[in-house]
Amino acid sequence: MRTAILAGNWKMFKTVAESLDFASLVSAPLDKVRGVEKIICAPFTTLSALSDALKGTSIKLGAQNLFWEEQGAYTGEISAVMLKELCQAVIIGHSERRQVFGETDEAVNKKLRAALQHGLMPIVCVGESLAQNQAGETERFVGRQVGAAFDSLTPDEALMTAIAYEPIWAIGTGLAATAEDANRIIGGVVRQTLGRMYGADTAAQIRILYGGSVNTKNVEELMSQPEIDGGLVGGASLKPDDYVTLVQVTASAKGLS
Ligand code: PGA
Repeated sequence: MRTAILAGNWKMFKTVAESLDFASLVSAPLDKVRGVEKIICAPFTTLSALSDALKGTSIKLGAQNLFWEEQGAYTGEISAVMLKELCQAVIIGHSERRQVFGETDEAVNKKLRAALQHGLMPIVCVGESLAQNQAGETERFVGRQVGAAFDSLTPDEALMTAIAYEPIWAIGTGLAATAEDANRIIGGVVRQTLGRMYGADTAAQIRILYGGSVNTKNVEELMSQPEIDGGLVGGASLKPDDYVTLVQVTASAKGLS
């Protein structure tokens, strides 16, 4: 069985003080929810304080990016070795990094391998643009992105990786994909591609999340879909009450509470 994940992607939001307030508000209610992996992916500047604040809670900590080298003359970059001291997970290849910072499929693959080598759980993002969606290219494009991200990964490494299918047109727009469409792309494209690479049994164990305008109103319908193993949530994960609700509803949608 695939354990659901509800990951918050804070993007470039929250100071250290704000992130500690959030942690103190959500820890107790979230500790009561079983069966869902809760991960907060926070800005680099907050990770040290948050890793202390979340010790002994059920909430895991993630970063939002890394660089693939372990150390060296790479001004402004952070390595997996550094993150490993503070967190358990890392988002790789978010569409904002691909679009704003020019990350290529090759860079995503290198980052993914660096994360795995140092025992961080990668959450790799894939997803098509509005133009690709309207041109009917979603299946081909997303399949190719998955293939490129997982290139040369072993089955064991693939099993340690989570994927987030995040259509770019749904991110931050308030316009989520329909639950049926998200389920169809996740099952029919992302999992199928993994099946061709690793075999159906392995693909059936890999967790694939949906992201893009998930909120407290649509989360139940999305998480009730059989192929959707959780969510990667931006805006709604910034509000403590909403994040707690998202986790609780995910647990009940998966029949865990
Ligand atoms: P959103 O962002 O929930 O604000 O649409 C999702 C994401 O970018 O991961």
